Amino acid sequence: MRKLCPAFLVSFILLFSVQADSGDSLSIGPRFHRETGYDEYGAVGKNISFGENKPLYKEYPGAKKTKLPQPSFAGPSLEQVIRARKSVRTFSDRTVGFEHLAQLLLSADGLTHQLSQYDLRAAPSGGALYPIEIYVIITNVEGLDMGLYHFRVADSSLELVKAGHFNKEIHEAANEQSAVGNSPLTVILTSRFERSTRKYADRGYRYIYMEAGAICENIYLQVTSLGMGTVAVGAFNDRWLNELLEIDGAEEAALLIMPVGFVKDK
Ligand SMILES: Cc1cc2nc3c(=O)[nH]c(=O)nc-3n(C[C@H](O)[C@H](O)[C@H](O)COP(=O)(O)O)c2cc1C
Repeated sequence: MRKLCPAFLVSFILLFSVQADSGDSLSIGPRFHRETGYDEYGAVGKNISFGENKPLYKEYPGAKKTKLPQPSFAGPSLEQVIRARKSVRTFSDRTVGFEHLAQLLLSADGLTHQLSQYDLRAAPSGGALYPIEIYVIITNVEGLDMGLYHFRVADSSLELVKAGHFNKEIHEAANEQSAVGNSPLTVILTSRFERSTRKYADRGYRYIYMEAGAICENIYLQVTSLGMGTVAVGAFNDRWLNELLEIDGAEEAALLIMPVGFVKDK
């Protein structure tokens, strides 16, 4: 075998280290974080463009609508609730009151106040673009038929997406985790990505996940304050869950499942 010339070896090593440094060999997580980073010139990679305004409120025209009652918003102190919060994975079959459900949804991400033309909500949102949608599977809530509902933020109502008993489907979609499919209600957060990415390009994904986290914590705290429990469930079959919600997984995709109910006595 012919001897490799040292100059060739050095240039090969240099070329390899430059390639490794460019990030091409990184897996999607670190590459995503790197390529959506800002520097002193703004976004790395893509220009941020401002597109046309998109409606921030999803609605189901013609769906049966149920207005949420105005809850009392009474409860223990925030400090006590933060200290008491923990994940709960077993639920009693006690019925949840409609007012409890209303308080939970309005605290999760309901309208709170107005700033010039913006309707602001319970959770912060990058650019006030509000990419997150909230759905609820109802199994045992006072005064509501079983079914899949969409929380219409604009007028604090529930829209019936489809009637039926979906505990088996949501249990299977959650990789058969025992915490999911046995609660009187199950909240599901989805994202309509384009609401954020039209302004922030791919960096919008960072903001969307953070916003889902803020809403998730609002739900944990409100549920705890009402004497109930929940758990954030991020491990699920994306395709099955999106199909159950009748969303396409591209324009809108599921992010998080949160079963809610009264804690089962041990
Ligand atoms: C994004 C996210 C995803 C999670 N996914 C799951 C899950 O799929 N299944 C589960 O049982 N718990 C899940 N959890 C709950 C964590 O296991 C739990 O928060 C952690 O063990 C700390 O316990 P604590 O919530 O009682 O403080 C998730 C929590 C977060 C924030």
